Amino acid sequence: MPRAIQITAFGGPENMQLVDVTVGEPGPGEVRIRHHASGLNFIDVYQRTGLYPGALPLTLGMEGAGVVEAVGAGVSHLMAGDRAAYASNPPGSYSELRVMPARNVVKLPADIAFDTAAGMMLKGLTAQYLLKKTLPVEGLQAGDHVLFHAAAGGVGLIACQWAKALGLQLIGTAGSAAKCELALSHGAAHAIDYSREDFVARVKDITGGRGVKVVYDSVGKDTFERSLDCLRPFGLMASFGNASGPVPPFVPGMLGPRGSLYLTRQTLFTHIATREATQAMADDLFAVVSGGVVKIRIDQRYPLEQVAQAHRDLEARKTTGSTVLMI
Ligand SMILES: NC(=O)c1ccc[n+]([C@@H]2O[C@H](COP(=O)([O-])OP(=O)(O)OC[C@H]3O[C@@H](n4cnc5c(N)ncnc54)[C@H](OP(=O)(O)O)[C@@H]3O)[C@@H](O)[C@H]2O)c1
Repeated sequence: MPRAIQITAFGGPENMQLVDVTVGEPGPGEVRIRHHASGLNFIDVYQRTGLYPGALPLTLGMEGAGVVEAVGAGVSHLMAGDRAAYASNPPGSYSELRVMPARNVVKLPADIAFDTAAGMMLKGLTAQYLLKKTLPVEGLQAGDHVLFHAAAGGVGLIACQWAKALGLQLIGTAGSAAKCELALSHGAAHAIDYSREDFVARVKDITGGRGVKVVYDSVGKDTFERSLDCLRPFGLMASFGNASGPVPPFVPGMLGPRGSLYLTRQTLFTHIATREATQAMADDLFAVVSGGVVKIRIDQRYPLEQVAQAHRDLEARKTTGSTVLMI
């Protein structure tokens, strides 16, 4: 029987168990896919702990790559034997075999390996919609400064490279000198070690006192309010994660005196709600990866059985770049 990593209760990494599962035929609009690799993402932690609660028992994992085994009625963009990859709800990519909606599954170009794909779909599509669609009212022009927290992480290293290709001056934050070096070597124009330095003061210094047009903030609780202080008037605070904990309730009035700021809370799943949108974003991502503009750096690989260690390392801020579970 195929194996999968499931939880039956929300909690710590030890709650994840390797179990045998039964996988049937794909229904209308579905595919059955045999995974070669699955990507690790911070959202998996939120789902494991119940911060984002799902129905139990739950097979975790939102990002995968493998070979399509069978397609259900009405699926015309994939066929059995296709190499494919996805970032998708519902969770379930921590598995050898699964049936899932075909909507977010795309054909994988021949020059992109399964492990690379598993390390880039969710993170790369996120970097895509952030840098290209999550924009301040004044837009972003070449030479503009943006602030990107956790710049040496999975989403972060992709964003550093893509931002550079777009001509942006990305100021990255990261939790150590070594991580700052990594961000710089992947295209960040500046890097701030926010475990030691006052990132607001550094951003003001780098931008000649003006501040940035956008802050992309996935750290959440620990950075939210100070991120607002990095923005120039009419700037955009793009909150998209909670690595340090969810942003507490706040008073909208605090946006006014800081310069009539804008605030948005973004999620990838709004952007990939349709097959057409998913394909268009994936095509954009494949173009920069195949063209060598964005390199997918897989710094950690674990066998599926060692997923608990992978979660511990991610939560302990020990990882950089992408992490892949080999299946
Ligand atoms: N909304 C969306 O559409 C969407 C999609 C994808 C990802 N995300 C979010 O984007 C972020 C990055 O995701 P990822 O999977 O690529 O993870 P990641 O960046 O590889 O790992 C998270 C990083 O966050 C930083 N961090 C800061 N405070 C932390 C804390 N208290 N505990 C743990 N980490 C902390 C750490 O980097 P430093 O040590 O350098 O601080 C850590 O390495 C996550 O918050 C994720 O939820 C959101």
